[in-house]
Amino acid sequence: MRTVRFGVIGCGFISKLRHFPELELNPQAQICAVCDADESRASKVARKYEATVYTNYKDLLECAEVEAVVICLPPHLHPEVAVYALERGVHVMCEKPMATSLIEAERMIDAAERTGTKLMIGFNQRFVPSHTYAYQLIRSGAIGRITGFHSVFGHSGPEHWSLDGNRSFYFNSKQLPFGVLGDLSIHKIDLIRYLLQDECTEINGILAHTGQKQADVYDYSVLSLRMAGGAVGTITSSWSYALQEHTTIVYGENGNLYMECDDQFPLRMMLRNQDAVTYKIPAIMAYERQREERSGVIHGFIDAIVNDKPVPVSGRDGYMALKAILAGYDSALTGKTISL
Ligand SMILES: NC(=O)c1ccc[n+]([C@@H]2O[C@H](COP(=O)([O-])OP(=O)(O)OC[C@H]3O[C@@H](n4cnc5c(N)ncnc54)[C@H](O)[C@@H]3O)[C@@H](O)[C@H]2O)c1
Repeated sequence: MRTVRFGVIGCGFISKLRHFPELELNPQAQICAVCDADESRASKVARKYEATVYTNYKDLLECAEVEAVVICLPPHLHPEVAVYALERGVHVMCEKPMATSLIEAERMIDAAERTGTKLMIGFNQRFVPSHTYAYQLIRSGAIGRITGFHSVFGHSGPEHWSLDGNRSFYFNSKQLPFGVLGDLSIHKIDLIRYLLQDECTEINGILAHTGQKQADVYDYSVLSLRMAGGAVGTITSSWSYALQEHTTIVYGENGNLYMECDDQFPLRMMLRNQDAVTYKIPAIMAYERQREERSGVIHGFIDAIVNDKPVPVSGRDGYMALKAILAGYDSALTGKTISL
């Protein structure tokens, strides 16, 4: 069986929660090298996987002979590291947001195209069972033409998970300039693009500081979007909810799809004049623990490399979601509707 030699750059919260366990579970992955500016973090995971430790990503890419890297760094570093890897023929799975500007995102896409290497963006929510089933139901025409949507992603804030707590890059406008928009709203923008197979053409944004006293970035965002196909809807994100919320509703001419609105039934379809149809599938917070491939991100990335297939979430997907976020930010600051 063909195996892929992997390096992981950034040994913080998300790589430990998701990428290391998924690489470990995948028989086609070999964790060969790890990198973190904090050597003790890198050494801790390296011991477990018998990997070589680096504190500088360039050294890893020059010396470790890896075929692919997973980039889990503060977002302002993603483009520099990704382009360095892609230009050396190394495939890249980069966490979201892929960059903090469209020019840098374009550089990443261009580097992947020029070198024939794969660039995937870590929008894991596409692989959540309620979302993949809803995608199929929408494609089958079950709820008819889509007219609207409403999606919410909120929790108590990244200080509760980032290894740097209150001092984390999440609260630093130089490292993540658009705050909660780039952390949470961007997931739901990608989800709506995926579910509707449609692009946002117009956006309005409202931003607020509601709870994160230490943040110099906004922690609450409400976006209203118009899609090319005519649907309109809202995406709300917050770092100041006491409890996590992950709900999405898609409205069609014949009925509604409710995703993650009920723990027992993560997907519910209500059609006009009919009883509700429920789907007993793992809910968003449980699904990664119940499937061998877990979130599906690493599984999809390795499948694309080994079988030379397109990655399931492309650089262009990352670019389009970033474009919408930047437009939402611009709208909130100027008070104007932004056309994309
Ligand atoms: N897809 C998702 O659901 C999801 C969830 C959480 C985070 N993320 C993304 O993952 C990325 C990392 O987030 P996190 O929550 O793991 O953050 P984190 O703060 O826990 O970890 C970041 C790590 O990067 C290291 N680092 C910083 N600068 C470095 C450098 N120059 N060289 C090497 N290492 C360096 C830090 O020491 C730290 O260990 C972000 O882009 C974030 O948006 C995605």
